[in-house]
Amino acid sequence: MYELLLLYLLCAVGPLNAFREEFRFASYYGDHMVLQKAPEQSVLWGYGSDGAEVIVSLEGEQQNRKHSVLVQSGIWRVALEPMEARGPYNVTAVQQGTANAQVTLMDILFGDVWLCGGQSNMAYTLSQVFNASEELAMAPQFPNVRIFMAALERSNTELLDLPRAEVPWSIPSAELLGSPEFTHFSAVCWLFGRYLYKTLGYPVGLVESCWGGTPVEAWSSHRVLQKCGLENQDLRHPRFTPYKTMPGLMVAWSNSVLWNAMIHPLLNMTIKGAIWYQGEANTEYHQDKYTCAFPAMIDDWRISFHKGSGGQTAPDFPFGFVQLSTFHKGSVSDGFPNLRWHQTAGYGYAPNPRMKRTFMAVALDLPDEESPWGSIHPRNKQDVAYRLTLGARAVAYGEKGVSFQGPFPVKLLLKGDSINIIYTESVSVTRSKTIFEICCTKAKNNCSSNEGWVPAPIIHWGLSYIQVSVVQCQNIVSGVRYAWKDWPCDIKACPVYSVDRVLPAPPFIVNHWP
Ligand SMILES: *[C@@H]1O[C@H](CO)[C@@H](O)[C@H](O)[C@H]1NC(C)=O
Ligand SMILES: *[C@@H]1O[C@H](CO)[C@@H](O)[C@H](O)[C@H]1NC(C)=O
Ligand SMILES: *[C@@H]1O[C@H](CO)[C@@H](O)[C@H](O)[C@H]1NC(C)=O
Ligand SMILES: *[C@@H]1O[C@H](CO)[C@@H](O)[C@H](O)[C@H]1NC(C)=O
Repeated sequence: MYELLLLYLLCAVGPLNAFREEFRFASYYGDHMVLQKAPEQSVLWGYGSDGAEVIVSLEGEQQNRKHSVLVQSGIWRVALEPMEARGPYNVTAVQQGTANAQVTLMDILFGDVWLCGGQSNMAYTLSQVFNASEELAMAPQFPNVRIFMAALERSNTELLDLPRAEVPWSIPSAELLGSPEFTHFSAVCWLFGRYLYKTLGYPVGLVESCWGGTPVEAWSSHRVLQKCGLENQDLRHPRFTPYKTMPGLMVAWSNSVLWNAMIHPLLNMTIKGAIWYQGEANTEYHQDKYTCAFPAMIDDWRISFHKGSGGQTAPDFPFGFVQLSTFHKGSVSDGFPNLRWHQTAGYGYAPNPRMKRTFMAVALDLPDEESPWGSIHPRNKQDVAYRLTLGARAVAYGEKGVSFQGPFPVKLLLKGDSINIIYTESVSVTRSKTIFEICCTKAKNNCSSNEGWVPAPIIHWGLSYIQVSVVQCQNIVSGVRYAWKDWPCDIKACPVYSVDRVLPAPPFIVNHWP
């Protein structure tokens, strides 16, 4: 089966033929890379001559036995012993019995490898953020945070190796992190890695694989699409129209093409976890399916990386994501609020029973009307990345006492003319007449549509509750929601935050109530 697949790929993708004889590592290994540290074992693989013996050895601080393996179907592969986080090492692979068949990767570090995926807000580079020049100037202070970026490629079949790297494994510099716009290097990915490095104190490897304007379908395998009823792509959908004249973008939207070319080739690499910033492209495209597709894609990536690495990458590796920020001020469209909700599989928070070991950075309080790249691309990526880092510390690293979720209510109590919204933690509140809304209907209703919602002003609050007035509803109150707007508040001025005012409350909706 495997041979057949390989054969098929070798035939289907012309250039791979040339690799068969050449002894080398797979395309995404390189000098300066970070390999996953213990307790996982890092996987190394490459190409060679069938039947030849390949010996892989490490030169550096920690002793490591030599690994010997035979080339099968043109491919060799070893899992190193678990390595402590340190470096540098030189990793040498030698193919026995062939002249000059030796390759050495230099300046290799062991640390945690994080994959960064999504669309343009992940592709958004450090040169585009607020305080960009200071951020860029700081890059050389973090030589142990290494970067790699996959080039934009798509394929109709699952590729074994990455066709190209946009940025091969590199030590960070202002040049590599700063240009050109939307190319390299991802601000959210870099800042996440940098903040994480500050708390971990050991190397971090960042692998960026993302593409602006892409829907979740492009990053999903056929298994995900099948599960969520997304196999039949609707190419006449209005969302496609603007791209009609741009064939490149049009193809990028096709089902599975980026999973095939930009994720599948990475599966054999051992990783610690992934972060993701995507969803804008699905606010008007299969929006209602996102609640199925996103968690299903996470499940599928997890099991695929686990299998691809021969069991080294955790089958439930931590997955962090950014909840959508804002797009149009004053918009009454429910595309953004609905998609934010779907991003949490309809729970409103993460992790949740459907999305275990996930964490979410809420970003709806960071709008940016003046962004030169359009209001859909807010320039403040520092807070986004910082909030992700808090989630990673708590969920991925099990650090105790790290608060990473904004306040989320546990109970709503309707009493007379008001509702008490109860939180388990202390909340920081500012008065608002409109941020909470109730669904006010003549009959007990299903309030999922945009009909019947009226503002419920905050009238009172305490340490861990907020009281809103429902006096204006003469009928039945059958729903409550918070921050249910594309652009619900001004910069860092949402009405509900954690008590330290770092974490905004995520939006919620209750529409079958009481
Ligand atoms: C790796 O190889 C280079 C070139 O031979 C050498 O300068 C360097 O010291 C080696 N590094 C380690 C950790 O052995
Ligand atoms: C990489 O992982 C894929 C997916 O699990 C698998 O089909 C393939 O055989 C692996 N490749 C190598 C070289 O081990
Ligand atoms: C930009 O720098 C200023 C001055 O140091 C700081 O107050 C502000 O918070 C920074 N902005 C972001 C988004 O980090
Ligand atoms: C509520 O409304 C949604 C969409 O309008 C519909 O899909 C769902 O079936 C309704 N639920 C009930 C219980 O009526």
